[in-house]
Amino acid sequence: MVISGPLTPGQVSFLLGIIPVCVAWLYSEFLEYKKTAASLKTGRDSDINLVELGNDTVKEDDRAVLLEGGGLQSASPRSHGSSIASPVVRLFTMDESFLLENRLTLRAISEFGIILFYFYLCDRTNFFGDSKKSYNRDLFMFLYFLLIIVSAITSFKIHHDKSPFSGKPILYLNRHQTEEWKGWMQVLFLMYHYFAATEIYNAIRIFIAAYVWMTGFGNFSYYYIRKDFSLARFAQMMWRLNFLVLFCCVVLNNSYMLYYICPMHTLFTLMVYGALGLFNKYNDNGTVIAAKFLACFLAVILIWEVPGVFEFLWAPFTFLVGYTDPSKPNIPVMHEWHFRSGLDRYIWIIGMLYAYYHPTVERWMEKLEEAEVKRRISIKTTVVIVSLTIGYLWLEYIYKLPKVTYNKYHPYTSWIPITVYISLRNVTQHFRSYTLTLFAWLGKITLETYISQIHIWLRSGVPDGQPKLLLSLIHDYPMLNFMLTTSIYVAVSYRFFELTNTLKIAFVPSKDDKRLMYNVITAIVISTVVYTLSFILLKLPQLMG
Ligand SMILES: *[C@@H]1O[C@H](CO)[C@@H](O)[C@H](O)[C@H]1NC(C)=O
Ligand SMILES: *[C@@H]1O[C@H](CO)[C@@H](O)[C@H](O)[C@H]1NC(C)=O
Repeated sequence: MVISGPLTPGQVSFLLGIIPVCVAWLYSEFLEYKKTAASLKTGRDSDINLVELGNDTVKEDDRAVLLEGGGLQSASPRSHGSSIASPVVRLFTMDESFLLENRLTLRAISEFGIILFYFYLCDRTNFFGDSKKSYNRDLFMFLYFLLIIVSAITSFKIHHDKSPFSGKPILYLNRHQTEEWKGWMQVLFLMYHYFAATEIYNAIRIFIAAYVWMTGFGNFSYYYIRKDFSLARFAQMMWRLNFLVLFCCVVLNNSYMLYYICPMHTLFTLMVYGALGLFNKYNDNGTVIAAKFLACFLAVILIWEVPGVFEFLWAPFTFLVGYTDPSKPNIPVMHEWHFRSGLDRYIWIIGMLYAYYHPTVERWMEKLEEAEVKRRISIKTTVVIVSLTIGYLWLEYIYKLPKVTYNKYHPYTSWIPITVYISLRNVTQHFRSYTLTLFAWLGKITLETYISQIHIWLRSGVPDGQPKLLLSLIHDYPMLNFMLTTSIYVAVSYRFFELTNTLKIAFVPSKDDKRLMYNVITAIVISTVVYTLSFILLKLPQLMG
C-alpha cells in the first residue's frame, strides 16, 4: 500500500485524539453490556448470586451518587476550577459512570473517526484503485431522468400543511420546496463532477447561485422573524457549516478552499447575520432595513468591484482562504477565493430582498387565489407567459455564451433564472404543494454529499488536488462500480449529517453559554496540547538520527 506523502502533525493529532475515544467507547459498550446482563441476572435468580448481587448493589449506589453529582453539576453553572476539568479527567481515568452516561456521544465520535479513516484510505492511499471519468450525454440524461421517474413513483407527495395562525393552507411550502429544489440541483451538480459533464458548466454556476440565494433567503427570514442573535445559535450555525469540513482538512491535509462551497456559505451567512444583527432593535423600521440593504450593496461594490480592495482586505486571511492547485502552481493564492466568492457576490442580497418582500407577495397571492376564476386565470397566464419569455431570452442571450464570457455576466444576471423558476414553481396552488420527497431528502444532506464526493466517490490522490479521477472498487465494471460507490457514498453522507447533529447537541448547548464557552476553551486547549505532542513525535526520529 502506497501512502502519498508523510504524515502531518494534524493527522497524527487526529489519531492521538481518536484512539483513546474509540477505546473509551468500546469499554463503555462493554460496561453497558455488563450492566444489562447483571440486571437481567438479578431479576431472574436473586438468591444464587447473593455475593455478586451484594457487590452490584454497592456499585449501583456508587453510581447513583456519581450520577446525582453529575446531574447537579450540569444543572448549576460550573464556576470553580475542579469541576471544570472533570469531564476530560473523567474520560482519561475511564470513570465508569461517566463512560456509561456518555456512551452514545463516544459512539458518535468513534463512528465519525472511523469514516474519516475510510476517507483517508480511499483518497490518500492506493488501497483501492481509480479510473478515468468519461462523459456520454445519453447516459448522463438517462441516469438523471431515471432518478426523476423513480422518485416520482416512490416519493411523490402532496402537502396540505395549514398555517398555524390563520388555518389557511400555506401558499408556498418553503421548507419542502427549497429542499426539493436543492436536491435536484445537487444531483446534477454531483453528476457533473462524476461524469465531467463540462457542457453544463453554466448551469452549475446557476445552481450554486441558487444555493447562495437560499442562504440569503433562509437566514434573513430566520433572523428577521425570530430575532435570535444569541451566541449559542451562532455557534450552532457555524458548527453545522464547518464541523465536517474542518476535520476533512485535518485528516486529508487539504486547504479549506478545496471545499469552496463551505467558506462561501460561511461568508455570506456571516454577512446576513451581520446585516441584521447590527442595530437589530431597529429592524422593524422600514427605513433602517432599506439603509441596510443599501449598505450591503455598497459593501459588495467596494470589495469586489474596486480593484485591489479585495486583495487588501483578505490578505490577513490567506492562511484560511488561500489555495494553490498542485497542477497549476503559478496562479496567485487568492485567485480561487476571489473568483468563487465574486461569482455570487450579489445574489445573497437578492435572497434577502425576496425574503423581506415574502409576506407581501404571500398576501397578494392569497388575494389572487380568492379572486374570481377569470381574473385569476388571466393573471396567472400572464405571469407564466412573461416568465417563459424572460427565461427564453436569458437562455438564448446569456446562458449560451461561452464559459469565460458567461462568468463575466453571471453576478449580474443569475437572479433572472432563479426568479423565473420561483414564479413558475409557485404558479398554481396544486403545483406548489407537490414535492418529490426523495429529492427533498437529498436536499437535506447537500453539504455532506458535497464534501464526501471529493474523497470517496471521486479521487484526487494528493493533498489539495482537484478530484480528477473516480474511485474504483470494482475494476473494469464502470457502471457496477458507480452503483456501489454511490450507495456507500450516499449512506456515509447521511450518517455524517446525523453525526454532525448528534455531536452538535452534545457539545453546543443551546441555553448554557457558560458551558459553551467552557467547551470552546477545552477544545482549544486539547487541540493545542495534542498538536504540540504530535509535532514533537514527528520531529523525534530526525533528532535521534
Ligand atoms: C443559513 O445559511 C446556511 C448556509 O446555506 C444554511 O446551512 C442554514 O440552514 C441557513 N439558516 C437558516 C436558518 O435558514
Ligand atoms: C416559491 O418556490 C420557491 C422554491 O421552489 C420558494 O423558495 C419560494 O419561497 C416560493 N415562493 C415565493 C413567493 O417565492
